[in-house]
Formats: sequence, structure tokens, C-alpha cells
Amino acid sequence: MESFEYTAHAARVIFGAGTLSRLPDEVARLGAARPLLLTTPSRRAVAAGVRAAARFDGVAAHTPVEVTARALEVARSNGVDCLVSLGGGSSTGLGKALVARTGLPLIAVPTTYAGSEMTPVLGETENGAKTTRSDPALVPRTVIYDVALTTSLPAGVSVTSGLNAMAHAVEALRSPRANPVVDGFAVDAITRLGRALPRVVERPEDLDARADALTGAWLAGMCLGAVGTGPHHKLCHVLGGSYGLPHAETHAVLLPHTMAQHAAAAPGAMRRIAAALGVSDAPTGVFDLAARLAAPRSLAELGLTEQGLAEVAGAQPGAGPLLREAWLGNRPAVTGGRPDLTRLTGEVVASFAGAPDKRLAALLGDLARRLHGFVADNDVTEAEWQAAIGFLTETGQLCSPTRQEFVLLSDTLGVSSAVDLLTHSRSPGTTPSAVLGPFYVDGPPDVPHGADLAEGLPGVPLRAEVTVTDPDGRPVPDAVVDVWQSNQDGFYDVQLPDLEGPVLRARLRSDEHGRLWFRSILPSEYPIPADGPVGRMLRATGRHPYRAPHLHFMISAPGHRRLITQLFVAGGPYLGSDAVFGVKDELIVDFPAHEDGSRSVAFTFRIEPDH
Ligand code: BEZ
Ligand code: FE
Repeated sequence: MESFEYTAHAARVIFGAGTLSRLPDEVARLGAARPLLLTTPSRRAVAAGVRAAARFDGVAAHTPVEVTARALEVARSNGVDCLVSLGGGSSTGLGKALVARTGLPLIAVPTTYAGSEMTPVLGETENGAKTTRSDPALVPRTVIYDVALTTSLPAGVSVTSGLNAMAHAVEALRSPRANPVVDGFAVDAITRLGRALPRVVERPEDLDARADALTGAWLAGMCLGAVGTGPHHKLCHVLGGSYGLPHAETHAVLLPHTMAQHAAAAPGAMRRIAAALGVSDAPTGVFDLAARLAAPRSLAELGLTEQGLAEVAGAQPGAGPLLREAWLGNRPAVTGGRPDLTRLTGEVVASFAGAPDKRLAALLGDLARRLHGFVADNDVTEAEWQAAIGFLTETGQLCSPTRQEFVLLSDTLGVSSAVDLLTHSRSPGTTPSAVLGPFYVDGPPDVPHGADLAEGLPGVPLRAEVTVTDPDGRPVPDAVVDVWQSNQDGFYDVQLPDLEGPVLRARLRSDEHGRLWFRSILPSEYPIPADGPVGRMLRATGRHPYRAPHLHFMISAPGHRRLITQLFVAGGPYLGSDAVFGVKDELIVDFPAHEDGSRSVAFTFRIEPDH
């Protein structure tokens, strides 16, 4: 069980395209009427369209206190009653600095992916020294995300700012303050940023991609606001503070390397990040994403000299090797120095190449490739692999002429249905097939039309009329039709060792009109055998073992392809959650009830001629 603390910073969020137009309403909602607009000269054009009691467009990076003092003067001399920041992290920063000094409410309109609007943290600089404080009162009261304002954000800034946001989400996943709420935000943020940034670079004006990226940035900001920063961020700050490296770019360069360093200690977080990005290894996945986005790659490129590198490395115990790799711009080694399987996999695949049966060689080669990929991608441990082998061993040991646990395994994994769907992609006009199941016995007793398959067993009497035709409706005479089903309690005869001879299974032949009929009992739902390893798997995954009520048919006729299928009782239970994924809509048929309590079914099977 997990214990955690989670503090939400309440902010009202308005998200959409063109939402800046909602600003006057949001100002009024706060009971204010005289906003001070804080922005940068580069955003003057957008700012000009915003009604404000006063404006300050001298926002500067790192929130210098002198700039804040000037903005404060503007606020005071104009009698403003709320603050509106429009721009990136620096604009939001100035907004928070003024909140700290005036207590006025702040509405943030972020135009980058910095995420600072979601955090209670304010960093300021005075005489070159940086101070930070954290106070829930500094969080903006309202955040307006206007996707339309982000389309003009240049690709380069979008990328570095987006990777900065991703870094916050990555750090949140392995933070000691992590919790399930934040983990959810983090994974979603990484997923969105990972898929949106390449699209943003390709088409900066694509509103959908921009909305995805901005949502990712918002979620990453929530992560940052909830759990704060970690060792990666601290290293970035050292490089930014003492060597003047640009903040977002430094994040982009360092992130894959700090991830690689911490990967071994946080395998769970790395797996989730890799899955969110759709890659097999998280640090190299982030490196490759950054490369694809043409983000800066090395600290050298950002202006860190070799001497600077030596100094930071000396001052940051344990970070030397990773800083050097980042300085050079190398791709990090795959997590935990995990060996590359390419060669081994290649050898195994090649070992089959000489097989006289080329199909066998191809199937075994691909199986080996996929199994190697499976164990690598999932970091399967030795204990897990032993457990898997133990499971398969038990599955085999349980098999006997009357118990086919491997068929059950294939069925419950949906593989039997997959093979069935792929091999019997039928021509239109023929009856769909369905899985054979483990209870077919070859050579059932021949019986005449009208025979009672139940031979007096208890159950709801059933009369079945079957017609076999070709796809054009022409009768197929002399078709051999094997039928089998469970008894009223859901058991097949082979499951009941005390039972005398075969029951509820028979072989009939169609007459010259393609017809045959028999009597039996209504099939009922039943659990597939669940006392073995497959049953354990179902229980371990919260799945039920039931099959929807059905009759089995195997139909063979000269000049036609054999059809193995089932008829399901319409209205019966488990049609939507059959344990072996065997139900097909066209096989659900009416079994109407009659006055004497009996039921009947009439069905025409259309079988495919052999071509
Ligand atoms: C059956 O319908 O007989 C069946 C099919 C798959 C697994 C178990 C039973
Ligand atoms: Fe069955």
C-alpha cells in the first residue's frame, strides 16, 4: 500500500482557441475592473488588442527585482485592481512577483510551454543572485490557455520549451513526492508532448497539434506545481546560474543524460516513460526525440567551455560522466548498460535459415525475434521467465486425450479466434466459422434424422432443423454434420468420466434437400475448465471463465471447404464477454420458445465450394 500527500493548487483554467477574448469576463469574475497588463515588447501587437487600465511591457528574464519595482510603480500610480500576465515564464514570473508585493489577483495567459502558471514557485534575481520562494498565494487565480496565441511561437522555442515541460513530467515520475494523481498527469504530459512536438515542428500553425502540446505543458506544469523539482532541474540551474546557459535549452540537452544516470534506480518510471513515448528505452527515446526535433544536442553548443565543464563536474559529485557525455552530445547508452540483443537475435534467426522447409525457417525466425523483443522491451526478469516456463510446463502436464489445456490457453488469449479470423476470411454469402474448442471428439456416433442426442438427459427439450447450402442457396446433399454440446450443467461428456459412452454428440448426413434434423436439450452457459493454469491466469486478471450458450457444428461435404462453427442462443448470457472471444454477430440466432416449454432452432449453413 502506498501513502502520499497531494496538494492541488486551485486555478481556474480556460482552454481553447481564441480564449483571450474571455479575459474581460474573467477580470469581472474576480470582481476587478482595472487590470495591469504585463508583457514583453515582442508581444505588443497581441497586447494592443487587450483592454487594460495600465500596461507594462518591460518583462525581463529571471525576474530581476529592479524590473519588478518599476512595474509596481506602474501598478500603484494607476490604481489597478488585478494583474494579467501575457507571455512565457518570465511574464508569469513578474505577475507572481507583483502578487507577492500587492496581494492582487493574477490572471495568467501563457504563450509558451513553461508551466510556471501552475506552480506556487517564484524565482527572482537581485544583484545577480537568485532567490526562490514557494507560496500557494502566488498561484494565478485564473489561467487562460489560448491555443491560437501559441501558433506564432517559433518551432525552436516550441521544442526547447516543450522539452523543458517534458523534463518536469519526467522528474515528477521519479520524485520522492510522487503520487498516483501526479503520475497520471506526468504520463499524459509525456505522451502528448512526445507526439505533438514533431507535428508542431512540421506545421507550427496546426491547431490540433498545438492544443495537444499546450495540454501537455499544462499537465507538466501541474506536476511541477505538485512535487517540485529534482536533481535534473538542480543541475540545469547550476549551469544556468553560474555559466549563463539558457534554461530551456539546457533542459533539452541534459534530460536524456540525467535520465540515463537515474534509470537503474527508477526502472518503473523509465518503463512508463518509454511506453508513453512508444519506445523501448526511455533515455535514448528522449535523446532521439530531441534529435528529431533538431533541439540543441550538446552543452558545448550552448556555450559551455571545456574549462567550465571541468569546474561544474568537479563541483557536482557523481555528475561528471553524465556532464561529459552531455557536453559532447553523445547518445546515452541504452538503460542500465543493457546489452544490445541485435547480434544474438541475428544469430538465432540465422540458425534456422538452412531449414529445408522455408516456411518453418521464417516462422521460427520471426518467433525468436519477437520473443527477444518481448523479453527486452518488458525487462523480463529471470524469475518472471522461470514462472512463464513453469506455467507452460504445467499447461503441458495437464494435457491428456480428454483435457487440452494448450487449446484453452490459445483460446483465452484470443489466438484461436485470430487464426480463425485470418484463415477463414470468407467469401461473402458463407456462414462464419468459430473456434473448434477442446471438446471435439473425432468420429462421433452416426445417428438418423430425428435422433435424440440427449438420450433422456434432463434439460429444456430442443428441436433443431439444419439446412446445408452453397453460397447461392443450392442444397448440399450428403454433407457430414458433426454436432456436439454440453449438458444442462455445462459439462461435455468427456469431462464426466462416469458417463457411459458418447452423449450430446452425433454425426448426421444431409438429405437430397441439404436438410437434417435432430432433438436435444437447450445448451446453457458454462465455465471453461478453470482448475488448471489457464483458470489461474483468468483469476489473476479478474476475468470470468464463462462461454455464452452454444451448439458446435463441423460440416464437411465433397467439393466444399470444411466449416467449423457454433450457433449462439440469442438473449443468452455472456454473449458480450465470451471467455474465448468466440462469438460473432451472424452466429447469434433465435431459439424460439413453444407452448409446451420446448425450444427450437432452424439454421441454414452456407458452405464454401472448394476452388
Ligand atoms: C467450447 O466451446 O467447447 C470451448 C471452446 C474454447 C475453449 C473451451 C471450450
Ligand atoms: Fe463449447
